[in-house]
Amino acid sequence: MLLERLSRPVRGVRIVRRGALEHGQTACVQIIPMRQLDRRDVERLLQHLDPNNELVVTSALSKREREAFIDVGFVERESLHLLHHDLRSIQPVATADTVVKLRTGRRTDLSSVLSIDHRSFDDFWAMDRDDLNAARKATPTHRYMVATLNNRVVGYAVTGRAGTSTFLQRLGVEPDLRRKGIGSILVRDALQWARETGGASMLVNTQDRNTRALGLYEHLGFELMAEQLKVLEWPSQNSPSSAAAP
Ligand SMILES: CC(C)(COP(=O)(O)OP(=O)(O)OC[C@H]1O[C@@H](n2cnc3c(N)ncnc32)[C@H](O)[C@@H]1OP(=O)(O)O)[C@@H](O)C(=O)NCCC(=O)NCCS
Repeated sequence: MLLERLSRPVRGVRIVRRGALEHGQTACVQIIPMRQLDRRDVERLLQHLDPNNELVVTSALSKREREAFIDVGFVERESLHLLHHDLRSIQPVATADTVVKLRTGRRTDLSSVLSIDHRSFDDFWAMDRDDLNAARKATPTHRYMVATLNNRVVGYAVTGRAGTSTFLQRLGVEPDLRRKGIGSILVRDALQWARETGGASMLVNTQDRNTRALGLYEHLGFELMAEQLKVLEWPSQNSPSSAAAP
């Protein structure tokens, strides 16, 4: 659960403090670089934070983005698969006549969406309202859809587009209603929207042990990329690596 935003000791970095994720930690501070950081930037960040009391972790970083953190002593906490979909290969499909309906997410859906999200991801990855807004604003254009069954929100997806690059940012389905095709309906809609609005490719990342999501993505034509994203953490005796993810 996000508690507060911290002041920014280094330009181009978003820092978010969350409640304690692990025994012995007072808080978890997540560093989200919005630009390429160098070693001095990371050292300055560490001086500003308190790694003895706080679990200090990064967002999911590419190989290039994590170099400065590893130089300073950060270690791997999580490994995420990156999957790619060539949108030129998808065929337009007629809207299936199902009892599950899709519509644009509304403000009044917020508590349902966050409730599904909290039951889908552990504390480290679960969103609050700010995180949902940040996911929606991460790209110039986005699509925020909810799936409903008998007018009840049972799933959601946030997809972003920047030029021809598109990103499946967030996806969740009500736990009791999984394996009934709702996730596939949401992802197909995201792919269709991305293609129709000029996207050439879509990226999604997911934790390497999230076999259900990986199966779903591969089933819908995503391909695993060689590069993996990593979440890093500042090593501390109190921070065994154990979080679960998207
Ligand atoms: C990943 C997630 C979104 C999938 O949602 P879902 O509604 O269960 O997805 P679907 O039902 O469309 O497909 C899931 C699997 O069920 C199978 N399935 C679909 N309809 C089915 C049916 N009627 N009967 C049995 N199985 C079915 C699909 O083939 C698929 O299997 P596969 O992965 O082996 O191909 C859901 O498990 C979830 O919310 N997980 C937690 C959050 C998460 O991991 N999000 C993704 C992060 S990147």
